[in-house]
Amino acid sequence: MQKYIISGGRPLNGTVSISGAKNAAVAIIPAALMVRGVCRIENLPDISDTDTLLRVLEIMGASVRMINRTTVELDCTSVSLDGLSEEVWALTRRIRASYYLIGAMLGRFGRACSTMPGGCNFGVRPIDQHIKGLNALGANVRVDGGFIRARAENGRLRGARIYLDKVSVGATINIMIAAATAEGRTVIENVAREPHIVDLANFLNSMGADVRGAGTDVIKVRGVPSLHGGTYALIPDQIEAGTYMAAVAAAGGCVRIENVIPKHLDCISSKLREMNVEIEDGDDYVVVRRDGLLCHADVKTMPYPGFPTDMQPQIGAVLCCASGISAVTEGVWDNRFKYFEELRKMGATVKVDGRTAIIIGVDRLTGATVRACDLRAGAAVVIAGLAAKGVTRVEDVQYIERGYEDIVGKLRALGAEIRCVDEPDEPTSRRTDWLAG
Ligand code: UD1
Repeated sequence: MQKYIISGGRPLNGTVSISGAKNAAVAIIPAALMVRGVCRIENLPDISDTDTLLRVLEIMGASVRMINRTTVELDCTSVSLDGLSEEVWALTRRIRASYYLIGAMLGRFGRACSTMPGGCNFGVRPIDQHIKGLNALGANVRVDGGFIRARAENGRLRGARIYLDKVSVGATINIMIAAATAEGRTVIENVAREPHIVDLANFLNSMGADVRGAGTDVIKVRGVPSLHGGTYALIPDQIEAGTYMAAVAAAGGCVRIENVIPKHLDCISSKLREMNVEIEDGDDYVVVRRDGLLCHADVKTMPYPGFPTDMQPQIGAVLCCASGISAVTEGVWDNRFKYFEELRKMGATVKVDGRTAIIIGVDRLTGATVRACDLRAGAAVVIAGLAAKGVTRVEDVQYIERGYEDIVGKLRALGAEIRCVDEPDEPTSRRTDWLAG
């Protein structure tokens, strides 16, 4: 299995360029299924989640042409539901965003079928708000045997007024996609406001849809009969940028992080500044510098524009090396602290009580064999490894590669000693499990 070997304790210096936003890409690729014509998507991140979704569309009959590493021309004119097969299900089970195919298939064909989605395990991940929204649009949705099946009454969805009981990124996206070609007007209230929601709305509008209000808590969609081809460039990845900011905070040094929208990073920058990290905002870059001691801070995750839950593990890793006592409260997911078990192997002192973790900072973490439990938990152990004394071996890096483009290459260019090797798993990390009781 592939793993990362990190010799920690070296500061990071230089320039890193941020890739296109993963969570925008995994919404926009399924939405492209609704488009009749060529859809050129630029600034696509080169990660395994986007490969998986492109492959699904290809099996369903789309023409997928990579123009270069980050630009794809996608023509879904000939896509049909006849292409759905075991091969598709094996792919859709792997990732969370496959449920956006339901909204897109319903919008295009009035019928849909997919597996229950996969993705990171942060505890229970219900989809009741997706179903509520699609039902309101006139779809009959059934979940059984691990599949989601949906059918629009009279073959086409119709606009509706929908109030989400919970602020959900996924439900907002799924309903917005489905409503784009529904008959009449849809109003979705209490929606998520993340940057990738705005990006999806901009994508749909550039393909002929009429979506307004994305970025506020009410989205209004006037359905159009069909979507046409066009060109769209994705926004930069807020979380990838935040991850490099956290890496500099933990390892020290000075890094210019390019191709970002600094406004999207405000929630992360302000927390890092509290921790004694210097951050200078440019037009499309930030410069992050840390040479003094890191200070403790309290963090609570919330929907955008609050501190993102997808940055919680990375900031948790930084706080393990900060002086004093910090409290991290997870406000979105039930169970997103599993990565602390790995950080404890590196000397972190953390007590978890429900949705709050109390961290007592240590002078120095020490290298160990650890696992990437999921995508962002994987980023957290890499960050800890960069700051730690000695060698850290990170196993299960396939989770990290779902969402970070060339993380090893980008960190090496900043002076980190990290390499990816292919070697059999040594049960070192599990051998010490009994110590934790
Ligand atoms: C997306 C992101 C994920 C991020 C999360 C929150 C993608 C592919 N994934 O996940 O990385 O951590 O947003 O920013 O974009 N909920 C319900 N019912 C529903 C849907 C959600 O109760 O039908 C609850 C969830 O249990 C959770 C909260 O709402 O407590 C937020 O979930 P949601 O925003 O939907 O997350 P995802 O879209 O799954």
